Formats: sequence, structure tokens, C-alpha cells
Amino acid sequence: MKKRIILLDTTLRDGEQSLKFNLTTKEKIEIALALEKMGIDIIEVGFPISSPIDYKTSKELAKIIKNSKLCGLARCKKKDIDMVYHSLKKTDNFRIHIFLATSPIHIITKLKTTFNKVLEKISFMIKYARQYTDDIEFSCEDATRTPINNLCNVVQTAITAGATTINIPDTVGYIFPQEYYNIILNLKNKVKNIDKCIISVHTHNDLGMAVGNSITAINAGAQQIEGTINGIGERAGNCALEEIIMALYTRKKNMNFYTNINVHNIYYTSKIVSKICNIPISINKAIVGSNAFSHSSGIHQDGMIKNRNTYEILNPKNIGLNKTEFNLTSKSGRAAVKYHMDLMGYKENTYNINLLYDNFIKLADKKGQVFNYDLESLAFNSLKDNNTEYFSLKYFNVESNSHLSIATIKLQCGKVIKLESATGLGAVNAIYKTIIRITNYNIKLINYILKAKSHTEKSIGEVNIKIKYKTKIFNGIGFSKDIIKASVIAIINCLNSIWRSNQVQKNILKINQS
Ligand code: KIV
Ligand code: ZN
Repeated sequence: MKKRIILLDTTLRDGEQSLKFNLTTKEKIEIALALEKMGIDIIEVGFPISSPIDYKTSKELAKIIKNSKLCGLARCKKKDIDMVYHSLKKTDNFRIHIFLATSPIHIITKLKTTFNKVLEKISFMIKYARQYTDDIEFSCEDATRTPINNLCNVVQTAITAGATTINIPDTVGYIFPQEYYNIILNLKNKVKNIDKCIISVHTHNDLGMAVGNSITAINAGAQQIEGTINGIGERAGNCALEEIIMALYTRKKNMNFYTNINVHNIYYTSKIVSKICNIPISINKAIVGSNAFSHSSGIHQDGMIKNRNTYEILNPKNIGLNKTEFNLTSKSGRAAVKYHMDLMGYKENTYNINLLYDNFIKLADKKGQVFNYDLESLAFNSLKDNNTEYFSLKYFNVESNSHLSIATIKLQCGKVIKLESATGLGAVNAIYKTIIRITNYNIKLINYILKAKSHTEKSIGEVNIKIKYKTKIFNGIGFSKDIIKASVIAIINCLNSIWRSNQVQKNILKINQS
């Protein structure tokens, strides 16, 4: 029979600990609700003794979250344990998570005590916490650098005192998979009351082994995995839960385990965490990176169109993403261009694929990446429209003070020149409002990324933006030594794509009417 793996999410505790700022109560609630909806078994909501806001937030969450168990962290101290209890007592479904370091380096240099005193403290505090709940997790901090006999001693003591989950954290991300496997196996073989508890693993990614270590540990008998969304956490981060979930889901035939997670919510939850924690997801991040389902080489794209299993082991639909799209670049073949036209609903007899492909290659050579709206434009606009930059910048001026910015822009719009000004909260906002005044395009800026091309003060600024216009997303890029100018250029780039897209609609209408 398949065994269920319990997932404990610590995005709001270990994850938050690594941020340069504290999450507000509202932000923590938004993340916790997403985790609950995703089906996370246990949410570690914080470390209530660490700050009044953590305490208040834990209290709020205890009123709101109904379907996931809540857990609060405590040092091996009465006041910490009391704080967890008082913050979570409004829910009858809570866990107290107590930790104390067990490795020689931590005991001698950090705690300045002895191993025997550590054992006594663990026993005493777990018994103390049991007055509040039967659900006690004990973590042997730095377990993977604790001599195995000492670790067995700690685990046996903690279970005897009443701990129901024993966590074996790889606190410093040091262990290798086979070594972790052996630790768990040793505990199972040597600790006589081990069957009275759930063994949990909590890994850090300092050597890039966090997910692999957790998977190995469940093969050795661990039943709970702790981690965070997007792998955020102390230093190089924690085990990325979305990777664990999809590894078990994808390899379910080979693994004897399953989780209770609603995988369709993974993408949404990852986005929310990235946005609220202000940690962008690297494009090549497994499962949720923007390249995770995007294929670039022509050979791969062709294989994918024939059978997606040739190059994709995961189906993006499973994690809540709509469809596989290809990176349309000069490396793409005809098949990928046709596939994207199909995705947009254009039948092959409505355009000339050979002509479209020739023009696509020319544009891709010039532009790098080509988007769906570029394809539409190449397919349905005249050569003249495609070569026209309807909007071009004649002049701009932006003045800012600590309260407000004012932008003035002169724009060539076809044959006429228009001049407008607008104020905004910051330079980009003012530019953007001025552009709306000039063009009447109801655009919404949905992504703005500013990068320096090198590390000197003379560096060129690169602005990458995404704009929503009606139901479509347009991408624009601008380069300049002046980052404000780069922003204006990027927006104008988008405006020209929007204009061409509007021409496409007019042309399609004409074709349909004739
Ligand atoms: O990494 C660690 O050891 C921890 C414990 C508090 C579980 O985060
Ligand atoms: Zn940790």
C-alpha cells in the first residue's frame, strides 16, 4: 500500500526568517490561505516569541485557517512554549514545535552547556508542552552533524517525554543523500520507541541537495517532509515543496508514496509567495520557473509537437499553467511557428506559412525573441505596416521631487505630433500616464524589470516591461544610459506592437467581410 507523506510548510517561518523585511499580518494570511487551498497538511505560521507581530499574526491565522494544522516554533524554553500555545489556542488543531541543538559545535560553542544538560532540558520541556497539546514536534537542530549514538539518545529521550514527531534537520545543508539515508535507517534500527513517532526531515540547500536528501530520507522511512514554496529560507534556502510534490506525483509509478496536495494550485501559490516576499523566481527554477515548460531548440519544439512526452516529463496543466509555449527565436522551426498560429486559432489556409516563416526568421534575427502578436502581424499585416514604427519619441522630460513626478512627452503618432504632460507617483508612473493621455490606449503595466548591463556607473540600463492591453500581453524592451529614457523606449516599443495588433484585427475583419 502507498504511504502518505505529510507535508509541513515553513514558508512563513524559515522562509520569512530569510527575508530582509517582515511580512505583515495581511501578507501572511494571503500566503497561508493559498497553502491551505493547496492542501498543505501543516503550516508553520511563525515563531511567536520572536516578535509581537508574529504573535498577533499566529493568533489571526488560528481564527482563519480551518483545513491545515497550524504549528508554531519554540526554543526549549517555557516562555516560548507558552507563547505558541496562547497564539494558537483558538484552533483545536495545532502543534508546538520545540527545537534544541544537539551537535557538539552547537552545544559547546553556542549553548555553552553539556550533552547531558541538553537531554534533561529536552525531556523537561517536552513534558511541559504536553499540558497544552498531544501534538509535539521536537527538532534536533544540526542533527546531521550530531554523532549518531548521541542522536539516537536524543530521539529516544524526546519520544519518551511525549514528542509525537521527531525532526532530523540538516540545518546547515551539509549532508549527502546516502548519509542522510543511513541516519534515518540507524534511528529506525537503534531507537527502541521509534515506532511511537513520525520521523520528519527538514533540509537546507547549501550544497544543492535539499530536495534529493528529502526524497532519499522518505525511502529510508521518514514520513514527513518540511520545506517552503519556491525553496525560500535561510541562506541557500530550504527544500522546495513544489519540487517534492511534483517529483512524487510524476514518479508515482516508481515511488511508494503520495501527498494530499492539490497540484493544480502549485503555480498560483508559487506566484503569490514570490510576489509577497519580493523574491523573483529564477527562469530555470524547476517546476515554476518561466523556462520550466518552454522549449527553445527547433529539434525539441518539433519533437514536442509530435508528442509532448519526447521532451516534457511534466504537464504544465497539472500545476495550473495553461499550455506549453515555445521560445520563438531564430532557432525555431516552421512547426513551432505553425503550432503558435494554431494556439491563437488561425487555420493554415488563412495565411501563407512559407512567407510567414521567412519573415519570422528575419524578425527573429533582428529582435531575438518573437511573440504571438508579432506572428499575427507578420501573417496579416502588409509589409508596410510591419516596417512602420507608428509611434516614435520626439522629446521627453521628467522632473521628480520627493512627492511627485511630472512627465512631458512629445510623440510622433503616424503623421501627427502630440504633446502631453501628466503627474504620477514616480517617474515611470508619470510617463505611463502621459502615454495613456497621448494614445488613448487603456494599457496596464504588469511587469517592470530594470537591469544594469554591467557593474560600472557608465553602465547601460535595460528596461523590460510587460503591458496588458485588452486581453493580450505585450512585451517591450528599452536600452539607454538613462534609465528613464530606457523606460520610455520600452513603453513605445509596446505601443508599436499594440498598433500593429490593432491593424491585424482591422485586416482580419476586411478579409472576413470580402
Ligand atoms: O534548520 C533548522 O534546523 C530549523 C529548525 C528550527 C527546525 O529550521
Ligand atoms: Zn531550517
